[in-house]
Amino acid sequence: MASVNLEHLAGRRVLSLRGKSVGHIEEIRAERDGDDLVVTEFHVGIFAAFERLSASAIGVAMLDLFGLRHRDCLYRIPWEKLDISDPTRPRLRCTLEQLSHMKAGIDGKGKAWSSNSLRHVMASSVWKIALTVFLCASGVGTVLWYMTGAQPPFSNQDQQFEGPVDVAHGELVFAAGDCASCHATPGQSDRLKLGGGMALASPFGTFRPPNISPDPVDGIGAWTVTDLANALLGGVSPERQHYYPSFPYTSFTSMTAEDVRDLHAYLRTLPKVSGRAPPHDPAILFGIRRSMGIWKMMFFRQGTTSARLDGDPVHDRGAYLVESVSHCAECHSTRNAFGAIKSDTRFAGGIDPQGTGFVPNITQHRLSGWTENDIATMLKTGETPSHGRVGSSMADVVTNTAMLPDSDRQAIARYIKRLPPIATPRP
Ligand code: HEC
Ligand code: HEC
Repeated sequence: MASVNLEHLAGRRVLSLRGKSVGHIEEIRAERDGDDLVVTEFHVGIFAAFERLSASAIGVAMLDLFGLRHRDCLYRIPWEKLDISDPTRPRLRCTLEQLSHMKAGIDGKGKAWSSNSLRHVMASSVWKIALTVFLCASGVGTVLWYMTGAQPPFSNQDQQFEGPVDVAHGELVFAAGDCASCHATPGQSDRLKLGGGMALASPFGTFRPPNISPDPVDGIGAWTVTDLANALLGGVSPERQHYYPSFPYTSFTSMTAEDVRDLHAYLRTLPKVSGRAPPHDPAILFGIRRSMGIWKMMFFRQGTTSARLDGDPVHDRGAYLVESVSHCAECHSTRNAFGAIKSDTRFAGGIDPQGTGFVPNITQHRLSGWTENDIATMLKTGETPSHGRVGSSMADVVTNTAMLPDSDRQAIARYIKRLPPIATPRP
């Protein structure tokens, strides 16, 4: 093996894209092996600003010196492993024919870019663009990941949910909130067995309300009142995940601390039910819970309400029940493409989320013939002034509103009666 002296190359600049100098050759050694030239050492000093591009810079250096693309020779160091923090020692094996080409390259001071080298430059610029795109995308991804994380709004240190509890009042909150309509175990008649599992169809997939009985393993028996507050008011689970808005926390979010506290106490008195609901079957886009972080950024403001108050205590109590706890708008409104309620047609009716018909407009555009008492009576007995009894999911709602005191039904009726008329949107 004859040694080939390539010392004169030391110090030569390594050029990269658009002729920019990215570093220089510190040392280069090669040996002649029969018809082959074996480059045994190849140290390139890369200027700090170009460190990330070291691998491509070395590629450019070889092209520059030898007129060879790395795939023209046997190149024994994995390309992507080239790292300037550990001096690179690529071995380059070329044929004699290539060697003469190389000599020409070495002897000539100038640098003639062949079409091959141009392609290389293109390739390395694609690489650079790809790197930039990747860095930007991962930057945006990191920011999104951070922003979509579920932050529980309350901590166990928060005092606002502490205090004496009123279980009987909690029972009324439970009724007003219609919790049993979604969480009672289907196929049995006890509305207080909250084993969950009912199929709630929606354009975004089928959701199954979970077991919220006091079972410590399958239900929420181990939950603190803060956990319940984070779920109802923030849509965040104890595992710090977002809930789907098929759980109407979008309305519950403005519930008072006392109501949450009493509801928590009441839920603890209910029978334990073991077993878990089957998993949700969300549409593909919603398969990842984290995507609800984006949905919430767009459509959910924790603690806010659409209630309009007018100073009349009966009306304003109704505003709280209708807009928050009893979440009437969740069914009686049209939704946008993302499933969020369209605020300008709130209460003006909409397609039944379960896909079975149309939920009626309950603004004065349609209910002007109903008196406040008619509405209050319907909420107690299900009877409407004109056409018999309400049916479908409203019948479930009435099972619950029938348990409220007259004053609450009157409050709900007054708020509904004073809703401004809005024409029914076309489905
Ligand atoms: C329209 C149907 C519906 C109503 C009404 C409803 N929920 Fe739910 N609830 C759901 C769905 C669906 C989920 C599951 C959401 C998810 O997994 O993202 C859920 C989840 C929950 C959870 C979280 C349980 C867990 O294991 O993480 C709690 C707690 C809860 N609901 C309590 C209540 C209470 C209390 C009420 C009444 C004030 C209520 N829900 C009313 C549908 C409903
Ligand atoms: C789970 C969905 C759902 C919720 C929640 C709900 N409704 Fe309804 N509501 C319906 C459906 C569906 C009908 C139509 C019933 C029928 O076709 O008989 C209806 C009918 C009515 C009607 C009768 C309208 C008519 O012209 O016959 C009134 C009034 C009404 N709801 C008021 C309310 C109030 C007030 C609340 C809140 C306390 C409420 N609804 C909550 C689904 C719901």
